[in-house]
Amino acid sequence: MTTYGFVDRFNHWLAALFFVAIACAGWALYFDSFDRATAGTVRDLHKAFGTLIGVFAIWRVGARMERGFPPSVEGASTALAGLARTIHYTLLAGILIMPASGLAKSLFAGRPVDLFGLVTLGSPDSKNEAFAELASTVHFTAGIVVSLAVALHILAALKHHFLDRDQTLVRMLRG
Ligand code: HEM
Ligand code: HEM
Repeated sequence: MTTYGFVDRFNHWLAALFFVAIACAGWALYFDSFDRATAGTVRDLHKAFGTLIGVFAIWRVGARMERGFPPSVEGASTALAGLARTIHYTLLAGILIMPASGLAKSLFAGRPVDLFGLVTLGSPDSKNEAFAELASTVHFTAGIVVSLAVALHILAALKHHFLDRDQTLVRMLRG
């Protein structure tokens, strides 16, 4: 594998788009940016899309683990290649850990998760305060780590494109 194929690019951009939107909604809820009614709707959408992207992430991360990563593009600086790969692994872990801890946080708090009015996961009886607390700490801490990783990742992509002027971003867009 020398570049990203269609499936790689589709997986990358779909997960990226939803992940950024879901994380922004999470932080907006955390900083109390909405009135009560809007917060309720945003929280329900955050949970439903977060669960959906979690299911997609199992396929997306599995496909990457099986196919491996293509080597850096020709001419890209190798000095930061190790850091870039560590961030890629952090992001892959993030799209699994965030949905899993979010689901656990809600279900162990005894708050069922409604998936777009179609299916409801859990019940008010599934309450376990210690597990809910642990899942909440994981969701919050991983949320900080992965949000910082996303910010670094985007800055790196822009650096490759505009300063180094190499093909790193182009091959994730056009293969
Ligand atoms: C890609 C997946 C997800 C990302 C990136 C994400 C990110 C975040 C972030 C950054 C916060 C704010 C920090 C915090 O309070 O912990 C948050 C809050 C929260 N998340 Fe998630 N989350 C995801 C999936 C989920 C899922 C699947 C659920 C539940 C089914 C969930 C439930 C919650 C809840 C209940 C809150 C607290 C909201 C509030 O303050 O009212 N999250 N999330
Ligand atoms: C505007 C936002 C983003 C841009 C411009 C961007 C750009 C890129 C580029 C250019 C690469 C190729 C790097 C290389 O070949 O060395 C890449 C790879 C990668 N990106 Fe992003 N990215 C963005 C958002 C995200 C987000 C939000 C996530 C995860 C939550 C993510 C996860 C990954 C992963 C895991 C890889 C490694 C290859 C793969 O498995 O797809 N990216 N990204």
